[in-house]
Amino acid sequence: MCGIVGYVGDKPALDVVMAGLSRLEYRGYDSAGIAVRTAAGELTVVRRAGKLANLREALDGTPSETLDGTMGIGHTRWATHGAPTDRNAHPHVDCTGAIAVVHNGTLENFTELRDGLEHRGHALASETDTEAVAHLIEERYAGDLAAAVREVCGDLDGSFVLVVTHRDEPDVVVGARRNLPLVLGLGDGENFLASDVTAFIAHTRSARVVEQDQVVTLRRDGVTVTDLAGSPVDGATFYVDWDTAAAEKAGYEYFMLKEIDEQPAAVRETVGGRLGPDGRLTLDELAMSDEDIQGLTQVVVVGCGSTYHSGLVAKYAIERWARLPVQVEIASEFRYRDPVLDRHTLVVAISQSGETADTLEAVRHARRLRAWVLAVSNTVGSSIARESDAAFYTRGGPEVAVASTKAVMTQLAAVYLVGLHLAHVRGFRDDDEVRSHFGDLAATPAQIADVLGRMDPVRKLAREIASHERVMFLGRHVGYPMALEGALKLKELAYVSAEGLPAGEIKHGPIALIEKGTPVVVIAPRHALTAKIVTNVQEIRARGARTIVIATDGDDSLAPHADHLIRIPDIKSLLSPMLTLVPMQVLSAEFAMARGLDIDQPRNLAKSVTVE
Ligand code: G6P
Repeated sequence: MCGIVGYVGDKPALDVVMAGLSRLEYRGYDSAGIAVRTAAGELTVVRRAGKLANLREALDGTPSETLDGTMGIGHTRWATHGAPTDRNAHPHVDCTGAIAVVHNGTLENFTELRDGLEHRGHALASETDTEAVAHLIEERYAGDLAAAVREVCGDLDGSFVLVVTHRDEPDVVVGARRNLPLVLGLGDGENFLASDVTAFIAHTRSARVVEQDQVVTLRRDGVTVTDLAGSPVDGATFYVDWDTAAAEKAGYEYFMLKEIDEQPAAVRETVGGRLGPDGRLTLDELAMSDEDIQGLTQVVVVGCGSTYHSGLVAKYAIERWARLPVQVEIASEFRYRDPVLDRHTLVVAISQSGETADTLEAVRHARRLRAWVLAVSNTVGSSIARESDAAFYTRGGPEVAVASTKAVMTQLAAVYLVGLHLAHVRGFRDDDEVRSHFGDLAATPAQIADVLGRMDPVRKLAREIASHERVMFLGRHVGYPMALEGALKLKELAYVSAEGLPAGEIKHGPIALIEKGTPVVVIAPRHALTAKIVTNVQEIRARGARTIVIATDGDDSLAPHADHLIRIPDIKSLLSPMLTLVPMQVLSAEFAMARGLDIDQPRNLAKSVTVE
């Protein structure tokens, strides 16, 4: 959370930084701000509470000569310390106005730092922890900004990415990181620092990850990376093959709508090239020997939010195919219950961003206990991917909307692949069975596209029910995690009370919530349990529920009990989440839009949650 951009080059910094911030706005939109060093040698800071649009408006009203430099930094904020006001917006400056700092993270010793600064005569103008850093650099500065930043990093407890400029050091931007992501973009006569690569891929595809406790000096003609002691450190550059168009709306009103439509292509990328001619899945990313896989005694899956729901589906797939016990745990709870892990445990950490603090801490804990940790992530070079023993990249392309859609879809495809691979190596599925299941998985992109083509009635229905303040989602077996996901989507986008429940559980309490007309989405693809769902649907309908049933083509058992029937193509029940997910994404997006809400940036949320 919080997006950061730094730029030094020959283009107008204002344009480059603002374009970068617009890519990073998903990381927080409580306020935004920039600092530009002008050609006349002044440091101009402009910042505003609210979304980036407010900052744009303020910049429009700012004299252009005060913004005309080619070096700048910018920030989009998800508030932690201090309310989302103009005063607390970044960049923050020191007493002299010469130093500007943007920060992502939280400083645990900030009270102590602020008290010390105030005692030493500094006047702090905001309630943030960040401002303390500007004043600390002011105290340490003796003509070398990078040296001052290195020293100050030693005083900070907690997590941070800092990007700093000094009025008297033209063409220098300094960055530092601990625990949170910072990536260098290496251009020709220009260089970039950003929270993620989407901020600069319009300018360069060459990138390098800034590692833990490193400090970067960014200049027009090169970069220097050092450790906190000032010794230069090497690092590998990587090439970003994401298409810039993938980070654009491409004519869609919202990124979320585009990302929903991109799902067939995204799954094709995840699944493509995985099956060798010998019928063996190519899953080298797991980096485990066959012997180690055969010696596994359990699998633990960790994740947060939507990703946790992908993890729940993994449990059904891995237990069914690979006959291994699987626990699924919300990452923020995982390490606090003292889990029993050892070197015969595979921990699968799922994270679209690869930066979620709770999941990262779970990874670290699991590794301390000697479990083998596999990251399933969409973000190459992310912290979770790098800190795990192995990384499986979902290759879904950039996901910008805060509510996850195509990332969840590709995570599902990924965990099915992992389950099949484990099953094969452990001898529970032979070549033919693996080939057949893989064939089913490889057929899903066309089936997802088919479901997408059937969504007009779902949009209409969403608009009809958009005035309801409560919606329930029911499912059984793998339909249950999807019920949780459907409810989460509606909660985060439309701010209504939405509950996802196992359909069999509703009679034990939640049925009391049903009133005349309460919309209830029932996920009921063809499955051995369909007959039981028919009974559950009758129970709720008898109490007045408006039943919206997702059912398989040709299965008419639920039709008499459905007020609205949404059909999906026939698919093996274990893989059905990849199809049942789609109508719920469309329903929640349309429901929220009918309420006039911004579905890309729901209130209070951020896409990448880098605080515990
Ligand atoms: C945030 C987002 C969710 C996401 C979760 C986990 O809460 O709003 O959409 O599912 O983080 O994110 P990750 O990047 O770890 O998958």
